[in-house]
Amino acid sequence: MGNYFAEPFRIKMVEPIKLTSRQERERLLMEAGYNLFRLKAEDVYLDLLTDSGTGAMSDYQWAGIMQGDESYAGCKNFYHLNEVIKTIFGFQHFVPTHQGRAAEHVLFSVLVKPGDAVPSNMHFDTTRANIEARGGKAVDLVIDQAYDPQAPLPFKGNIDLDKLENFIEHWGADKIPLPMLTITNNSGGGQPVSMENVSGMSAILKRHKIPFFIDACRHAENAYFIKQRAPGYGDKTPLQIAQETFSYADGCTMSAKKDGLANIGGFLAMNDGALFEKVCQRLILVEGYPTYGGLAGRDLEAVARGLMEALDEGYLAYRIGQARYLGECLLEAGVPILEPIGGHAVYLDARRFLPHLPQSQFPAQALSLELYLEGGVRAVEIGGVMFARKDEKGETVFPSLELVRLAIPRRVYTQSHLDYVVETVTRVYERRAQIRGVTITREPPALRHFTARFAWA
Ligand code: F0G
Repeated sequence: MGNYFAEPFRIKMVEPIKLTSRQERERLLMEAGYNLFRLKAEDVYLDLLTDSGTGAMSDYQWAGIMQGDESYAGCKNFYHLNEVIKTIFGFQHFVPTHQGRAAEHVLFSVLVKPGDAVPSNMHFDTTRANIEARGGKAVDLVIDQAYDPQAPLPFKGNIDLDKLENFIEHWGADKIPLPMLTITNNSGGGQPVSMENVSGMSAILKRHKIPFFIDACRHAENAYFIKQRAPGYGDKTPLQIAQETFSYADGCTMSAKKDGLANIGGFLAMNDGALFEKVCQRLILVEGYPTYGGLAGRDLEAVARGLMEALDEGYLAYRIGQARYLGECLLEAGVPILEPIGGHAVYLDARRFLPHLPQSQFPAQALSLELYLEGGVRAVEIGGVMFARKDEKGETVFPSLELVRLAIPRRVYTQSHLDYVVETVTRVYERRAQIRGVTITREPPALRHFTARFAWA
């Protein structure tokens, strides 16, 4: 058994959850078209679908909810959030948005034109889709080792700076309105990005006069990894590390549903005043007036308080410790996972888990269905269903990584819940040779993982 870092909180409100029978789950899964997104959440025992918006707020955040100022313009919670964003991120301007993808949508609709290219270490699915919806090309330039599920690198989320230089040379700076650096790298296993990489990227972009934007969803977890793994950062606080990180950038998008420890919310921040004016115009059209941006005053307050709590060192030790515990227990049971263990999730390596299934039979999707059938555990596929593309000839190109993500909601599940997950995964692993693949029976044109239907192959 791995070491468990005990919770730095106690529980004062509980939410009942129930375990259905295997027979019920078989029926429920069939009715959901073998798509876990289509299940009713109450039919899930342990929900590891996402760490987004699924966390438990603190008593301090709930107290802030009661102090929501619901004025249309200029509510006091906006000014509190402004102060917090200045403290952590240091950007001159910001607008709230209802979640991260709304910040992406507003930013890209102002900056990205058809024919433009937006490089990243790795784009998340909504980021990629928002760029493509503007006629832009979203390109991943993560270091090659990120595609090797076992390469033991401390900062496996880094962007390859040589690839970035070549990319700018190839496309020309005028076709690259901005890059996005995703910290931590969710699609690549929740892997951190080093400070050296952030500053190196910043220097390249400055030379080409391209503004540098960070996708900051899990920036606090990234800061904690830097503290633990980079020489010279051990004595710094996560807040100081976050401040240094963002000092290299010109702006960021943020989903406060992750390291904002809130159930809803996000923001878009930047230094450029002219850009900010355009952003405000667009925001008013699609989200709301710039002091609330699609959120209630009470939500803004929960985010303001959550952003600071997420940088608490005790909280981060527990948070990163939970993922490490889950991952180490699975490794002990011989289950193939992506290593090093990430910050917000453990990723099962479906290719090594189910080596008898070709990628055309979506092994990660099949594995995620089996976890639900086995124990009522809901995970998410991050593989061929989410990321396969058609090339110019119309041939399907599968992604290098075929993963099942066990995302850990913040401050929600206990050690015994994680032990239950380990038992469930282990039982599935023991009968892995009998597991069948799946085929897609119905799919929408974009972001198909949310609504597609499947059948056993
Ligand atoms: N960027 C990253 C790296 C993300 O992981 C997400 C969301 C977003 C942007 C969009 O933020 O959901 O608030 O609109 N990731 C969630 C997940 C959905 O499950 O990983 P959002």
